Amino acid sequence: MPFENPYKSKILDFQDFVFTHDQSSLYQGNWNEKIFKNTNPIKLEIGSGYGDFMMSYSKNYDHCNFIGLDFRIKRSFFLAKKLESLKNDSLPYFDFRFLVVNAENLNQYFGPQEISEVFYFFPDPWPKKRHHRRRLFQKKFLMNLHPLLREGAKVWVKTDDDSYYQWMLDEVQKSNEIFKIFFQTENIYQESHFIEERNFLCQFPTKFEKLFLEQSKTIKALGIVKI
Ligand SMILES: C[S@@+](CC[C@H](N)C(=O)[O-])C[C@H]1O[C@@H](n2cnc3c(N)ncnc32)[C@H](O)[C@@H]1O
Repeated sequence: MPFENPYKSKILDFQDFVFTHDQSSLYQGNWNEKIFKNTNPIKLEIGSGYGDFMMSYSKNYDHCNFIGLDFRIKRSFFLAKKLESLKNDSLPYFDFRFLVVNAENLNQYFGPQEISEVFYFFPDPWPKKRHHRRRLFQKKFLMNLHPLLREGAKVWVKTDDDSYYQWMLDEVQKSNEIFKIFFQTENIYQESHFIEERNFLCQFPTKFEKLFLEQSKTIKALGIVKI
């Protein structure tokens, strides 16, 4: 008998705010109209993991519709349990949904110019050269993402991995007709030039970030903007 992930059915307990592939694609282009029922900007977090960023962000930013996503079902289930408490907090002017989907297919879930900002923190680095093609952040992904973003939308990235950081800089260079780098740093916690960006990015460390900081790893960061 094929193995069925037990969390696949458990996650259905949260279907008022957790959506799988089929449900997510129903709202493509209509998240504000059909789900949030307001015109607040939609902020997207790719690879939310255990949700530390999403949870802290919600307590500090309002007038925002936050969509987190991750394709790992078990991890998403444990995050959904935490998000339930967030839902009960009924934060003013902050609403959210969580999608259990693959970020490679963003253009099945979002319509033109629907997303105002993207957070992409500590993506899986796929360190072996033969696995580099599995890295999500590459020219093809940027080309798919571009039409879904509003004019001037920013994409924020953090990573501990030197090789993936360099790779991302190269991929943005290859896409320089559609994205521009507005800041980059090899150590966001020691950054003395981009103060505003540093303050924002160091404000809410993610679960993986806390682990890397404990291991004294330097955190690299990158900000790109849609042109
Ligand atoms: C290293 S973890 C980082 C999690 C979190 N951002 C943090 O910093 O604590 C990377 C996360 O991205 C998710 N992920 C990787 N590739 C993905 C994809 N193509 N679509 C959706 N989620 C993805 C993984 O399941 C994992 O939870």
